[in-house]
Amino acid sequence: MQYSEKVMDHFMNPRNVGEIEDASGVGTVGNAKCGDIMKVYLKIEDNIVKDAKFKTFGCGAAVATSSMATELIKGKTIQEALKITNKVVMEALDGLPPIKVHCSCLAEEALHAALWDYAQKNGIVIEGLEQPVNDIGEREDIPEEE
Ligand code: FES
Repeated sequence: MQYSEKVMDHFMNPRNVGEIEDASGVGTVGNAKCGDIMKVYLKIEDNIVKDAKFKTFGCGAAVATSSMATELIKGKTIQEALKITNKVVMEALDGLPPIKVHCSCLAEEALHAALWDYAQKNGIVIEGLEQPVNDIGEREDIPEEE
């Protein structure tokens, strides 16, 4: 299996590991099939994601994608943050092997879950954001692990 240099870098030196104590939104998503869990913390002020941190109990690709996803979301508006799909994260990492694509979906869902939590806490509706799943296995558009 071939991993890009960027994947290896974000796996070996993950950015934004940790938690935000007074987070505006926290999202936890798992994948029951592999048992991996990702938790994302966002600090949001004036509609901008000021800070993002994560804790991932998971495979190397899950660590690398959560590192990249939290890097990408920092400084973005909420609407821009919604455009950070698993494909965007994978492209930023110069790709992932096909059987690891679902790991990047965990990152996308964890970001969405944290945004959802923020919206719930503040009684707002984020246009285009659907209620996230707790287990990405519930999402049918995600390729099965081989
Ligand atoms: Fe589970 Fe990668 S194998 S997220």
